[in-house]
Amino acid sequence: MEQSIEAKYTLTDEGFKELRDIIYKTSGIYYSESKKYLLESRILKRIQSLKLNSLYDYVNFIKNPANKGELKNLFDAITINETYFFRAEQQFDALEKIIIPELIRNKSPQMNPVVIRIWSAACSTGEEPYTIAMIITEKVKPIYPNVQFQILGSDISSQVLEVAQSGIYKEYSVRNMPEVYLKKYFVSKDGLYYLKDEIKKLVRFSNINLFDASQMKLVSNCDVIFCANVLIYFDIPAKQKVVSYLFDALNPGGYLFIGYSESLHGISKAFKLVHLPKAIAYKKE
Ligand SMILES: C[S@@+](CC[C@H](N)C(=O)[O-])C[C@H]1O[C@@H](n2cnc3c(N)ncnc32)[C@H](O)[C@@H]1O
Repeated sequence: MEQSIEAKYTLTDEGFKELRDIIYKTSGIYYSESKKYLLESRILKRIQSLKLNSLYDYVNFIKNPANKGELKNLFDAITINETYFFRAEQQFDALEKIIIPELIRNKSPQMNPVVIRIWSAACSTGEEPYTIAMIITEKVKPIYPNVQFQILGSDISSQVLEVAQSGIYKEYSVRNMPEVYLKKYFVSKDGLYYLKDEIKKLVRFSNINLFDASQMKLVSNCDVIFCANVLIYFDIPAKQKVVSYLFDALNPGGYLFIGYSESLHGISKAFKLVHLPKAIAYKKE
């Protein structure tokens, strides 16, 4: 029997809860009832690609353990990937002027060469880790030529990581970037901006789900973690879990930066809140 358009493209309350639970259990992302419409609209392209008949069929499809591979596409469809170069300008400024010099001072004299590890967790299309790589190249390396910097960018969505790896950006991404960086580190052609290899090669990308304990254990000994504008999509227990993994991944003396609109209040007492000029950071003592 032909289904009505409404039945095809909307979920029953029960179907919504089933899908929401699958998303929550696998990624920590929590869709409240008020976001039902948003979730439905984001899944529509999946039912079209899979040639399924309705959102209801999609819920059954994703529930089937044989279709575990679909989770990757689900994450691509439901994540919000907004980002741009130099988004957290004041945090990057503090990183360059205060945090990196402090970390270098506190590294053991036995460490030769000195290595600083920076992780942009939930980096979306790569603007955040590449901004860090450009600032290090432009401002930090001339002062500390012998220090090695390892920068990791990770995300749950493989689609955004492909863009990150390509290093090709639209005007929107570079709109906040100081002219000097744009001129020096990009080639612009046909309205696109191609990041030069000199910066691209400084960042390694990996698909890491912040909510997955075994994947999170693979990253350790970080000196600085940026985990910005992603905790907002989790509920409190998921935030607590993810923040505890990030704490474990940091070296003592290391710093965590989160988004300007985010806070660890009521989430974790493990860090010391540090006030920097125009930014705050969370320090693992
Ligand atoms: C709004 S973007 C933030 C990008 C960048 N950190 C910034 O502040 O500009 C949020 C990113 O978090 C990613 N994300 C959401 N849930 C995640 C999870 N469980 N593990 C890893 N990444 C996740 C999304 O795919 C998305 O690319």
